[in-house]
Amino acid sequence: MQKRIAVIYGDGIGREVITQALRILESTADKYGHTFIFEEVLAGGCAIDKCGQCLPQESLEICKQSDSVLLGAVGGPKWDNEPSHNRPEKALLTLRKELGLFANIRPATLLPQLRKASPLKDEILNCGIDFIIVRELIGGAYFGEHKIEQINGEKVATDGMTYSASQIESIAKVAFDIARKRKKQVISVDKANVLSSSRLWREVVESVAKNYPDVQLSHMYVDNAAMQICRAPSQFDVLLTENMFGDILSDEASVITGTIGVIPSASLSLGTLGLYEPIHGSAPDIAGEDKANPIGTILSAAMMLELSFGLTKESEAIQRAVQEALEKGYRTGDMMSEGCTLVGCKQMGDIILESI
Ligand code: IPM
Ligand code: MG
Repeated sequence: MQKRIAVIYGDGIGREVITQALRILESTADKYGHTFIFEEVLAGGCAIDKCGQCLPQESLEICKQSDSVLLGAVGGPKWDNEPSHNRPEKALLTLRKELGLFANIRPATLLPQLRKASPLKDEILNCGIDFIIVRELIGGAYFGEHKIEQINGEKVATDGMTYSASQIESIAKVAFDIARKRKKQVISVDKANVLSSSRLWREVVESVAKNYPDVQLSHMYVDNAAMQICRAPSQFDVLLTENMFGDILSDEASVITGTIGVIPSASLSLGTLGLYEPIHGSAPDIAGEDKANPIGTILSAAMMLELSFGLTKESEAIQRAVQEALEKGYRTGDMMSEGCTLVGCKQMGDIILESI
């Protein structure tokens, strides 16, 4: 199989973690007889530095023409004063919108090796953590009307949280389809006691559920969901939610599984094109120090193989190699615990590579 992969290193630790993921992808390709052609694409703060734009048109075109996109991280304090239409994060949001990446899949799975890194008590961890957040990615407050105006002599800011029924329907179907292959439970998270968009959300999710009689649907308010994720995470199988709630809850879900550093994500369109990225940010505080955890990016690459290219065996080989490295006790700083061996980003890459 031959595939073209657009690679966005981005900012901060982005280059370090992507470099390791590309080594793993290359060796997987060699071993299984595939060819991956990597094309570097400029986006984020580094693109602002080089050409004044967070997402040059050429970058967008290359991504559109690729079979999938692998992204490290974008953003950093250096670009905090950029106007909102040209912040590094805007590059990511534009990519999501332009590529039609409406479905963001973020797994929260407690790897047995990382138990000690979780802040939760043993009695909670004993029940297991294994759920998937299905986050709507191109609607809601992120893409509603944004404005700051002068009203009665003061500034007034508005961010519209807008959802159409068809947007909700599309993401709900993704969640139900995933649930069908798992424990057949969807918990839809909203704020229907306050927000109109959430009331429509609930209505549409319920109507989609009628086509999935084998899947059990329940609803949860987002404030309660935030509490339940740390109080009793084993109750979740598929958590379906809108864009901003999903952003917040997925950070919470990542930390209870040990570290945000190992969580991958897939942003999917209706076709096979997807964008794969770790859910952590650019971590400017450790950038360039070889301290970053490359596992979130490596597992994102594994998701790409499975979900965009249908290479399940290859994807599993990468996941197994990651588990082996953890099994042997190797840890980057973010997931370090007693008795383990502290390694840097590159060395973690070396160790995982050995197992491929
Ligand atoms: C994420 C990030 C992004 C988001 C930022 C960088 C715009 O936090 O992917 O979770 O809010 O979606
Ligand atoms: Mg986030």
